[in-house]
Amino acid sequence: RGEMTVGDLAKLLHKDASEIIKKLMFLGVMATINQEIDLDTIQLITQEYNIEIELKLPVEEDPFEIVEKADEADKMQDRPPVVTIMGHVDHGKTTLLDAIRKSNVTEGEAGGITQHIGAYQVEVNQKKITFLDTPGHEAFTTMRARGSKVTDITILVVAADDGVMPQTIEAINHAKAANVPIIVAVNKIDKPDANPDRIKQELTEYELVPEEWGGDTIFVNISAKNRMNLEELLEMILLVAEVQEYKANPDKEARATVLEAELDKGKGPVARILVQEGTLRVGDPFVAGVCFGRVRAMVSDKGRRLKDAGPSTPVEITGLTEVPQAGDRLIGFEDERKAREISDKRAINLRQSELNASSRVTLDDLYKHI
Ligand code: GTP
Ligand code: MG
Repeated sequence: RGEMTVGDLAKLLHKDASEIIKKLMFLGVMATINQEIDLDTIQLITQEYNIEIELKLPVEEDPFEIVEKADEADKMQDRPPVVTIMGHVDHGKTTLLDAIRKSNVTEGEAGGITQHIGAYQVEVNQKKITFLDTPGHEAFTTMRARGSKVTDITILVVAADDGVMPQTIEAINHAKAANVPIIVAVNKIDKPDANPDRIKQELTEYELVPEEWGGDTIFVNISAKNRMNLEELLEMILLVAEVQEYKANPDKEARATVLEAELDKGKGPVARILVQEGTLRVGDPFVAGVCFGRVRAMVSDKGRRLKDAGPSTPVEITGLTEVPQAGDRLIGFEDERKAREISDKRAINLRQSELNASSRVTLDDLYKHI
């Protein structure tokens, strides 16, 4: 970025400055010894000498670090728990959520396989619960990891006719890594070959021991398909939520996580996000990853238009200038200029670190070369 002069480059390459100037002239660049030259020009010269260089561009500290402040205790208010359903493929996660929501997502899925994180909010006994549905197919590890990072409670679904499987174990590991309590839902107990006690036995190997065996893990035997014992499962979720007292400050600019994002032909970039702190309002400027945006429209999981969304609310938003990455953090701003400035800085940082990573030879190697 123009921090090197012709003289500097000559010294670095152990060449005469006049030789470099001649080469530059030959390349159509008129330069003096004290002239600053840009990266492209430096590369032109080093190529002339058959030297590859690495561009170590300055990557600034993340500007978002600066804006984060701890919340005052009196600003904290109760928020719904975020509950993520995890488990091996086909063990009945989406069917369970369908039963809880009285909806029918499973039927619409290609091959009956979930390929996205679904986010929904339900109300049980006048208390809201936010649910995330994750895919169980082995290919979707990052989605499961993402789900467990934003969650308060994991519901581990294990089919009683199948047992503990690879993604059951993976889900346990994600929940443990995120330090999130696990409630085990032993599903498909309506099946003739269901053996819920075997599941309990198998899970003790992973430190999930039911209360009746002296442990502290909640187990609920359910049939998602026949809607058996779902009330009990929901009560257990609310019980854990009551003990843990999940709180957030709704009275500040939003902090959210992008669950999914895509380019919609009609709407442009669309992101499904989970608001975690603060409140996001229509018209709010924000930064999501390296993308700038201003909330144009906000739609709830039930397809309702919202004006604002507080902590633990999943919403779909439009108004982004680009498609952010799933997992990106979204931060609301009062000041649009500030939001633009930060997203610009982040985009430059990203480009520079990508450039740094893609270059082949380091400057140290360059010294060895000469
Ligand atoms: P992925 O999202 O692909 O990981 O699958 P999933 O865990 O969401 O499973 P899904 O809900 O799609 O259910 C898989 C199959 O199991 C479907 O055919 C369901 O009808 C069936 N199923 C789910 N729950 C039950 C249950 O309680 N009893 C019985 N008998 N079948 C069930
Ligand atoms: Mg599913």
